[in-house]
Amino acid sequence: MPSANPLRTAHRGALLHSLADPAEVGVEASFEYVEDGLLLVENGQIQAMGPASELLPQLGREVTLIEHPDALLTPGFIDTHIHLPQAGMIGAYGEQLLDWLQTYTFPCERQFAEPAHAATAASQFIDELLRNGTTTAMVFGSVHRTSVEAFFAEAERRDLRMIAGKVMMDRNAPPDLLDTPQCAYTDSKALIERWHGRGRLSYAITPRFAPTSSPEQLAMAGRLLAEHPGVYLQTHLSENRQEIDWVRSLHPERSSYLDVYDHHQLLGERSVFAHGVHLCDTDCARLAQAGSAIAFCPTSNLFLGSGLFNLPMAERHKVKVGLGTDVGAGTSFSILQTLNEAYKVMQLQGARLHPFKSLYLATLGGARALHLDDRIGSFRPGNEADFVVLDYHATPLITQRLKHCRSLEERLFVLMTLGDDRAIRQTWAAGRRVHQR
Ligand code: GUN
Ligand code: ZN
Repeated sequence: MPSANPLRTAHRGALLHSLADPAEVGVEASFEYVEDGLLLVENGQIQAMGPASELLPQLGREVTLIEHPDALLTPGFIDTHIHLPQAGMIGAYGEQLLDWLQTYTFPCERQFAEPAHAATAASQFIDELLRNGTTTAMVFGSVHRTSVEAFFAEAERRDLRMIAGKVMMDRNAPPDLLDTPQCAYTDSKALIERWHGRGRLSYAITPRFAPTSSPEQLAMAGRLLAEHPGVYLQTHLSENRQEIDWVRSLHPERSSYLDVYDHHQLLGERSVFAHGVHLCDTDCARLAQAGSAIAFCPTSNLFLGSGLFNLPMAERHKVKVGLGTDVGAGTSFSILQTLNEAYKVMQLQGARLHPFKSLYLATLGGARALHLDDRIGSFRPGNEADFVVLDYHATPLITQRLKHCRSLEERLFVLMTLGDDRAIRQTWAAGRRVHQR
């Protein structure tokens, strides 16, 4: 498991990270690239980043030097929306959201009542995140407290920065998967007290989506959030047309789907709403005002036929956006493959997703969406040393294709289009190697 000198390590290779959103500062000012760079890591944190020619002469003899030839080092990827109990039914055939939940999702999530199942699944799930270069994820558990216990225990063992929460749902789901407003409150509170702020872990209050929580439960969620500053909120929003109609029929008194959550005080700067495919300008303006974020989940939105997320509209309103794989509606754990599909979603809307915007979404943008950009998402000194080593020779095709690239931008785009878990040579978290291909 974790290896290499946890005290002082210097990583030599090509270093690339985002400095800002290209939509705000333009592409050229949005990134920093050092072709022959050195990333100096001490006690799990980035101490310095710069040209090897400048930093190498200053290294003491106690530093372990690690060379990364034919590779690109970037901050670890950030997945702002994924489901732990759905890895077992990823790629399930034939349904759109509401039928997909009933047919495939709920039966799979039911298994997480069993602590042994939850423990095995949590370990495999985290292995898969790390194999794909994801060092931080915002994770839905199942309705069972055990699912989140298992996830946090495994994430703590590997010293990862992770956010997770127990699903709350007290209606419109199979009876054996329902909680109540009171037990959702009690279980979530117990999980917050045990795990929130422990190591690099944070808790997210997790009402599944408006249709599966009664107004009483949504009110409980709002109360819990108000009682625990620093805790997150995650849920789903405006993903599918039928779902939106259903929310309207359940809450005719509210002006929009978002307004259901707003009414219960669930919008804040640590609130992340998955999908937001069918939002209007008013919703986007409100999300921006509240400092809430959207998780853009292209593979899921395509797989379930939900629709095309309007990233330019979110940008116009300055809504924070991160990427979500949304496994198991999403079809890949790979943030590179998620970017590949995000590019196509933009093409279908006559828009472009520049490779440096993609880099931003996968790293610093995700960190901002999670209100964590003072700790992760870039190589800023003081940040936690979570990074990936992308392999320029990941596959024969990538090796061949990169020979025809003339710029960093082209190479990056090829990695994002052809790359997947095979492109992740190593993953490092808090200065320790947590995956080696
Ligand atoms: N809406 C409510 N629950 C879910 C879920 O598990 N996945 C997706 N994609 N949307 C949801
Ligand atoms: Zn989801």
